[in-house]
Amino acid sequence: MNKIIAPSILSANFAKLGDEVRSVLDAGADWIHFDVMDNHYVPNLTIGPMVCKSLREFGIKDFIDVHLMVEPVDDLVKMFADAGADLISFHPNATANVSETINKIKDLGCQAGIAINPEEEVTVAEQYLEDIDLVLLMSVNPGFGGQSFISSQLGKITRIREMIGDRSVELMVDGGVKPSNIAEAFKAGANAFVAGSAIFTGGDYKASIKALRDAVN
Ligand code: DX5
Ligand code: ZN
Repeated sequence: MNKIIAPSILSANFAKLGDEVRSVLDAGADWIHFDVMDNHYVPNLTIGPMVCKSLREFGIKDFIDVHLMVEPVDDLVKMFADAGADLISFHPNATANVSETINKIKDLGCQAGIAINPEEEVTVAEQYLEDIDLVLLMSVNPGFGGQSFISSQLGKITRIREMIGDRSVELMVDGGVKPSNIAEAFKAGANAFVAGSAIFTGGDYKASIKALRDAVN
């Protein structure tokens, strides 16, 4: 199982976002986790498709995993696919028809992910496992970076891993991931790890990413 380290740019310095993204990729990151918040589905407002497009025009060719914390979802799916997203994950309770949203994402050439909030049961994703490429298990309540990992989610990680079985679906954990807890998330069954503050507030991106990777190797 490949282990994916995906810095969340929410904790990056937005005054020089292109350089920040280039730096974390050069420092060993696998994916870029692009957190989109609309101040409706979550009480915060971040960045839109034009920022994703700007990163592509800046020369970022690496995998961009867009996490839509928005409601409704479908119009932004199209905008982010057009802006260069590789994977688009969304919250099932934010769309009128989950299957239609998944199909829209895939018809536009992107991989599809479903996000599960801390208070939601893993069964919200179960019926879609044949159609998606990633399950995004929230280990914080969506809306902000720098929160603490909710360790009660570890049991859900294991249940999701069992549900995934031998399907090629990534299990990504998102929120509060640090060198001190990433190993237990991996042991529970996660193979992809979002880390925002653990990487961007450390100063030395290479060392921060290495600390996370060493903890799961
Ligand atoms: C929270 C976002 C997360 C968050 C991760 O709603 O989905 O991706 O930015 O940041 P840290 O790693 O600082 O919790
Ligand atoms: Zn996220």
